[in-house]
Amino acid sequence: MTKTKKPWAGRFTKATAKSVEAFTCSLSYDSRLYRYDIKGSMAHAAMLAEQGIISRRDERAILGGLKSILADMDKGKVFFDSSDEDIHMAIEKELIRRVGEAGGKLHTARSRNDQIALDVRLYLLDEIDKIAAEIRALIRQLVRTAKEELATIMPGYTHLQKAQPVLLSHYLLAFVEMFLRDAERFADCRKRTAVMPLGAAALAGTGLPIDREKTAGLLGFSSVTQNSMDTVADRDYIAEFIFDAALCAAHLSRFCEDLVLWSSDEFGYAVISDAYTTGSSIMPQKKNPDIAELIRGKTGRIYGDLVAVLTLLKGLPMTYNRDLQEDKEPLFDAADTLRTSLAVFTEMLANTSFNAERMRAAARGGFSTATDLAEYLVEKGVPFRRAHEVVGRIVAYCIGKNKTLEELTPREFKTFAGQFDPDVVMRIRLEQCVDARKATGGTATKTVRERIRKIEKTLDRF
Ligand code: ARG
Repeated sequence: MTKTKKPWAGRFTKATAKSVEAFTCSLSYDSRLYRYDIKGSMAHAAMLAEQGIISRRDERAILGGLKSILADMDKGKVFFDSSDEDIHMAIEKELIRRVGEAGGKLHTARSRNDQIALDVRLYLLDEIDKIAAEIRALIRQLVRTAKEELATIMPGYTHLQKAQPVLLSHYLLAFVEMFLRDAERFADCRKRTAVMPLGAAALAGTGLPIDREKTAGLLGFSSVTQNSMDTVADRDYIAEFIFDAALCAAHLSRFCEDLVLWSSDEFGYAVISDAYTTGSSIMPQKKNPDIAELIRGKTGRIYGDLVAVLTLLKGLPMTYNRDLQEDKEPLFDAADTLRTSLAVFTEMLANTSFNAERMRAAARGGFSTATDLAEYLVEKGVPFRRAHEVVGRIVAYCIGKNKTLEELTPREFKTFAGQFDPDVVMRIRLEQCVDARKATGGTATKTVRERIRKIEKTLDRF
């Protein structure tokens, strides 16, 4: 490891203090950007040569050097230390060591301020694609399970009180809707991330005759940023990405919360495979839904990442400030955490079975068909408010007699309202209640099946 002069040594009379090097160094986390950094440098060098700013000979030397550095780094070779400050300086120093003078021309018409913006944008584009693939896999799993559970009726809840019977498939598809929106949000964030920042240089652009569109083309971008000051100050795409990640994590976390409840003895709705649970070090009987709990916990971390980045931005004077170096750890953390949470959740879901009998028994209790009973009366011409009151009295009667609605005879119903006919008994059967909700967005088997078909078509286009 050669300790070289700093690029700014010309103006300085003293070497950087060791403590300062350690404190300012970002290599421990930004070294993961090396592929993007090298890719960006290659395009930049090619553009410089094309524009006649550097010679073709220098370009060849630079590209050759960068290629060999890339190959070595891919093999895990490390040739830098904390005196290098960041990944940009580390690679540039190594390039100069390998190819000499020509290496010193790479940073022409460029600053680390536009360079880091490019590296992070390139990284984020890849990351968004990986996360989108995980979301797709999760949606596919949810749809698969929804198709298998089309006959499973569960109690739907509000206020965690039994509310109305729904299909388990309907519940699962609720999450599909959330994850479809997440996928859309990430795709939208991708558009604003896919804008090429190089050429803004430190903040004001450069007087050298660069061609930014050319660099963009070489890197696969279709547009370039439009204001050099904004370019080096902008971290919107990072904040936006972490927000999208936070909301996606919130969706996962809500499902996890239900799974934690459902896998308890009290609910008994779901059994997570042993392979996706953990035991207790003291209580031999325990089987804990730790994955679900950890995802719920990690969601809080992602929220923290979002707040960290937003707070970082709020008081910064224009344009680049070193504070911005602090954007990377929360960004990487949010991306890594969400990606791994999505993957493990999908696996866990594929290895979870649902107890249809328990769910059905639970759906029968709690007077969950009371609304359907009121709708029955509405169909017979009773105003809804009055129907609501009549059914309320029936529920109170049942509570007094320790009966369920299903146990009442047609004759008993009749004593509450003349509009009750013997067919009422059929009308409040669970299947009947569920299948009556046929309007778009409802839980009727037919409607749910229809929605599954539409989602499957969307997935084909994904
Ligand atoms: N490591 C820096 C960052 O992450 C790169 C840009 C540094 N620019 C500077 N002028 N110190 O933001």
